[in-house]
Amino acid sequence: MECILVTGGCGFIGVNFIRHVLEETGFDGVLVNLDKLTYAANPLSLADLEGDPRYRFVRADLCDRDAVDRVFADHPVDAVVHFAAESHVDRSIRGPGAFIHTNIVGTFHLLEAARAAGSRLKRFHHVSTDEVFGSLGETGFFTEDTPYHPNSPYSASKAASDHLVRAYAHTYGLPVTLTNCSNNYGPYQFPEKLIPLMILNALEGRPLPVYGDGQNVRDWLYVRDHATAVWRVLTQGQDGRTYNVGGINELPNLEVVHRIADLVDELAGARPEGPRRGLVTFVPDRPGHDRRYAIDCRRIQEELGWRPEESFDTGLRRTVAWYLDRRDWVEQVRSGEYQTWIETHYGAPAEGVRA
Ligand code: NAD
Ligand code: DAU
Repeated sequence: MECILVTGGCGFIGVNFIRHVLEETGFDGVLVNLDKLTYAANPLSLADLEGDPRYRFVRADLCDRDAVDRVFADHPVDAVVHFAAESHVDRSIRGPGAFIHTNIVGTFHLLEAARAAGSRLKRFHHVSTDEVFGSLGETGFFTEDTPYHPNSPYSASKAASDHLVRAYAHTYGLPVTLTNCSNNYGPYQFPEKLIPLMILNALEGRPLPVYGDGQNVRDWLYVRDHATAVWRVLTQGQDGRTYNVGGINELPNLEVVHRIADLVDELAGARPEGPRRGLVTFVPDRPGHDRRYAIDCRRIQEELGWRPEESFDTGLRRTVAWYLDRRDWVEQVRSGEYQTWIETHYGAPAEGVRA
């Protein structure tokens, strides 16, 4: 691969993936980052790469078909890694429209441009989520063969995009691979998602809003491990194949929040008011909240030799330390739009019940 097009490269996972490719794999081709720069993007995350001759940035919206075609006309793209999406479940519940446009129509435009590239295109890798499989009970795991059962507008839009990608492989012979990954955490994650939101709220002595009873379970994966998985599939995966990616690390939300509160106490210093666990506030549940996700990722382990390297203890410690250290990055993403989201979604803190 000599010219990789990465979409959504200024978002959380895209930033970590681009850093992995350019800093750790020895890749010596060109990497083009196509990003619309929505609220979730922060160009500061990759500012230090601007002088790297292997790196190009193009601001474009996947919903603009002509703009997508221009990127393929301007660059000899031979591989695509498609991260760009509207990614926050709560936002999809409050306003599904952007999810339909970007996740479905945007993916369609990208697939059409890739198809038009013909035999030049060696690989189209689509980044998906475990949420397309729906919700598990107390036992069991999602395998690559688990039937789709998406429950939120976000997961339904991701499921639709997965189906389109597979249809392009089946109908037009597009050389696709897919990954369905569990919850990521780590540096550069926009602080609307559970882990960075809790780190910053804990640091600033604000309530830690836990939905429902706090017993929903997620399988947490350190983001650099996701980046290595995507690179492994891109370079060694089998055409047409799907690989589940997971952290082998299931935890209930309340446990995650308690660990964050304790780490912030340790790394930022105790508050005179007492341990930050006391900031936990139970708030009304997310509508349609999936109870448990758990990934069976034996296929990628056995066929491609990938496994997660970071433990949750070390990964969470690194993540908390990163957010304490990178206040410049945090301040930059907390725009007026961010404040509006927090006020609209969480309302006044008094709505919750302190634990
Ligand atoms: P993110 O919200 O942090 O970043 C998304 C990026 O896509 C942003 O840079 C944004 O500007 C860009 N973008 C959005 N709409 C666009 C458009 N119309 N045109 C061009 N660019 C656009 O998301 P993330 O957490 O980095 O997730 C990346 C991908 O991984 C998504 O496809 C998501 O579904 C998937 N995923 C995420 C997780 C997770 O835990 N975050 C887990 C599994 C899968
Ligand atoms: O499973 C993969 C998915 O993980 C990705 O596809 C999504 O893009 C990503 O956003 C993430 O979805 P979740 O909904 O699981 O992540 P979120 O961080 O929003 O929430 C994690 C859990 O924490 C979930 O059970 C809801 C809960 N939660 C979340 C927030 C923001 C709270 O209890 N309080 C909160 O304030």
